[in-house]
Amino acid sequence: MAKKVYVGMSADLIHPGHLNIIKEASKLGDVVIGLLTDKAIASYKRLPSLNFDQRRIIIENIKGVSEVVPQQELDYVPNLRMLKPDYVVHGDDWKKGVQQQTRQRVIDALKEWGGKLHEVPYTRGISSTLLNQSLKEIGTTPEVRMERLRRLIESKPIVKVLEAHNGLTGLIVENISVEQDGRKKEFDAMWLSSLTDSTAKGKPDIEAVDVTSRLHGLNDILEVTTKPIIYDGDTGGIPEHFVFTVKTLERLGVSAIIIEDKTGLKKNSLFGTEVPQTQAGVEDFCHKITAGKKAQVTKNFMIIARIESLILGKGLDDAVTRAIAYIEAGADGIMIHSKEKNGEEILAFCERYRALDKRVPLVAVPSSYNHLYEKQLMEAGVNVVIYANHLLRSAYPAMVNVAKTILTHGRSLETDDRCISIKEILNLIPGTR
Ligand code: SPV
Ligand code: MG
Repeated sequence: MAKKVYVGMSADLIHPGHLNIIKEASKLGDVVIGLLTDKAIASYKRLPSLNFDQRRIIIENIKGVSEVVPQQELDYVPNLRMLKPDYVVHGDDWKKGVQQQTRQRVIDALKEWGGKLHEVPYTRGISSTLLNQSLKEIGTTPEVRMERLRRLIESKPIVKVLEAHNGLTGLIVENISVEQDGRKKEFDAMWLSSLTDSTAKGKPDIEAVDVTSRLHGLNDILEVTTKPIIYDGDTGGIPEHFVFTVKTLERLGVSAIIIEDKTGLKKNSLFGTEVPQTQAGVEDFCHKITAGKKAQVTKNFMIIARIESLILGKGLDDAVTRAIAYIEAGADGIMIHSKEKNGEEILAFCERYRALDKRVPLVAVPSSYNHLYEKQLMEAGVNVVIYANHLLRSAYPAMVNVAKTILTHGRSLETDDRCISIKEILNLIPGTR
């Protein structure tokens, strides 16, 4: 009987290195590919460009592959114990870096039934990182970008979103990462905040900056990034206007709009009850959600309903009642907002929300209760966390400080340690030279 050979793969960007591994594996027996699911891949690196079904079709059709099974985790062991292969074949590059532990677990598991690990020398001259970089430079399409938010929500324990208000801040969200415990951490998506869009234009956050002018900023971001975008739609305006906004955002490849249940002159939520603000009637707001859902032409665009009951002091029961109604009206997500510092009411809402029969992804914006870690929010049932204003809030004091320093000294030398150098700014954006 032919030996069974197991090969774990993401198979996102297939290159000759992968084909070599499959060829070597097929010399040992029948090759079963353990194709990592989006969730398994997202647990240690960026979500793949192609979704699981697309990757499965490709890998099934590669010469030498007998069978494809999903591998639900980065850890091979559950699949190995199920299939008990005679061999596991892998590139020898996993001896270093984040995959070392995974490798050791494979070696230990194989011992249970006398299986062997066969390592193929790494194919030089090909780098997935470089291929991914080139893909990024080519850019994305509106459909691919739009769908990505839903894929992220399905694949990640919590989706991390940071505010961007122009091309440069878009690039920060797109490119900044940190390495921690061998894993690369980065933001998943961008938040087009009404507060920072307005503030950056020197205008108040009262829907005075209209959709058309906000689209200019959005377009600048779309041009230089590939990550999904969640658009802060304020109240969404009247339903007759909202339907046009939905179609426009869909066409551009924005993934979601969040609209808040307020009516009349909208003021920023973080004022709470310090300023007069009126909550929309449940029925009226449901009508707006339904009108938006009817207007959309793609299946992936999301309309997320934002509940302002806690902001306006209407209490938990009102917030939960509204969540039920908005989901019934077709909302694809619920955002619950609070400006209470201790975070208790948010966690209390999450607990009530978790008990609902019908739920959609839950979004939280921890601007006030910012001592809570993502992990705590995730455990409470939050699917998407938005850091709503931090790039603008951090840039402003830095700029004021430099402006004052120049005035004080009558020259700019003293600002040098607070500015990136001329050389750095000239090299910041590729193509400037
Ligand atoms: C925004 O960022 O514009 C928001 C969130 O709507 S908040 O400012 O907290 O209201
Ligand atoms: Mg806003």
